[in-house]
Amino acid sequence: MPLPTRSSVSEEIDRQQPTLDPATPEEWQELRALGHRMLDDAFDDMATLREQPAWRPLPEASAIALSGRIPLHGRSAAEVYNALVEHLVPYTIGNRHPRAWGWVRGTGTPLAMLADMLASGLNAHVAGGHQAPVVMEAACLRWLAELMGMPAESSGLLTTGATMANLIGLAVGRHAKADYDVRKQGLQGCVHPQLLIYGSTETHSWALKAIELMGLGRDAYRRIPVTDAHRIDVEQLELQIQRDRDAGHRPAVVIANCGTVNTGAIDDLPAIAALCRNHDLWFHVDGAFGALLRLTQEYAGLVRGIEQADSLAFDLHKWIYLPFEIGCVLVRDPSLHTATFVTQASYLEEAEGGIMAGGLPFADRGVELTRGFRALKLWMSLQVHGVHTYSRLIAGNMEQAAHLERLIQAAPRLELIAPRPTNVVCFRYRRPELDDPALNALNRRLVIELQESGRYIVSSTTLDSRYAVRVAITNHRSQMHDFAALAEDCVRFGDRLAANA
Ligand SMILES: Cc1ncc(COP(=O)(O)O)c(C=O)c1O
Repeated sequence: MPLPTRSSVSEEIDRQQPTLDPATPEEWQELRALGHRMLDDAFDDMATLREQPAWRPLPEASAIALSGRIPLHGRSAAEVYNALVEHLVPYTIGNRHPRAWGWVRGTGTPLAMLADMLASGLNAHVAGGHQAPVVMEAACLRWLAELMGMPAESSGLLTTGATMANLIGLAVGRHAKADYDVRKQGLQGCVHPQLLIYGSTETHSWALKAIELMGLGRDAYRRIPVTDAHRIDVEQLELQIQRDRDAGHRPAVVIANCGTVNTGAIDDLPAIAALCRNHDLWFHVDGAFGALLRLTQEYAGLVRGIEQADSLAFDLHKWIYLPFEIGCVLVRDPSLHTATFVTQASYLEEAEGGIMAGGLPFADRGVELTRGFRALKLWMSLQVHGVHTYSRLIAGNMEQAAHLERLIQAAPRLELIAPRPTNVVCFRYRRPELDDPALNALNRRLVIELQESGRYIVSSTTLDSRYAVRVAITNHRSQMHDFAALAEDCVRFGDRLAANA
């Protein structure tokens, strides 16, 4: 028997090598057909959202079907997809629905879904390098800086969301204001004055995580009280800064809210900007959703002062309605941004030409090296819809919030429990004979029943010990009549709960 030649052995090894791509024209055809079906299904699903329940609880059988044992051997993609149609597609958190106003979640769009599909297919690694996606992200960042009124040469980064964007902004602030090489020396056994961060009691919980993660410790976080309008008390802020300086600490960063998560309140940004300038502090703005008001003619005045931020964080998966995950941080001083994160490694060296020409600017502006092509959905959506469409949608959501506010004021058994400066409406069902604890219990039940009815997605918060139904409108599918229906149902459901109480 002839001995196998080296080349026939290699061929045999190749033949036995599994592949993740279809292996034959027939297999490509099969996957292509499944892809077309998935796309058709996704469009059908999105086109009929209004007819579907806003939310359905996940049945136990579906949870079991999606868990199961680790699949050691594969099965057909069509079979797997069929299971997903049954057990996954109907059972997400529901934020695409026209009547979804819980927390602050965007709706997603069919166009951006296509962009995500293209981005995933290209599988571009967008840390930097000489490639089109880098040019497109840089363009997006320039456009966003312009829309926010920040200098064209500002630096920035598209992030997973506002939490990461805020963390990056705070890290640059810490680096800029530490007055020693905080990257080199860190904070362990620190002989330097304690670095302090200031925010209001209404600042989102990302801040605590970021401060802890940066090693500052939560004692370094000064939470300043708010006024009746839920805006930071600037006088108290200044007094606290002075007290801390007198005690030998080093005030470093003020976090200003441009749209608090609870009530949508906007801090006095011009006053905080001036205070930061006077006290040599870093002016960071969390504009997770509120920043986008700057795109409108009618409401841009509410966010005046945002353009003075040293760093500004906001989301595009909230009030630009893009699918998760996409947020943005802008930093006024590009050199400080890069100086906070840049590292050297021979295997990531910038080159005079080729792919590594230009280095890895995006890796040098944040925590992550590997980053996907999240810019594509933003770039494509702006190209197709144009900024003016977003301006109108955002202004429309503000008008819907004002409409809901009026409906609540007119309803006999509903009451607003916070001022409504922007797109967040906090209210409750009430009856004069019920005290606050009883009303809290009733309204807690009301939120659950609204969700379980499949008609609305609302969330909740507690303001001054009063439990509130909370409606945050960042939804491009909502219409005025949706809010009339909500107000009516709140009274109807509330009456029933009160009768059964
Ligand atoms: C004011 C504010 N800041 C930060 C965040 C966190 O944003 P993300 O969930 O995109 O990380 C939110 C989320 O709702 C928010 O409302």
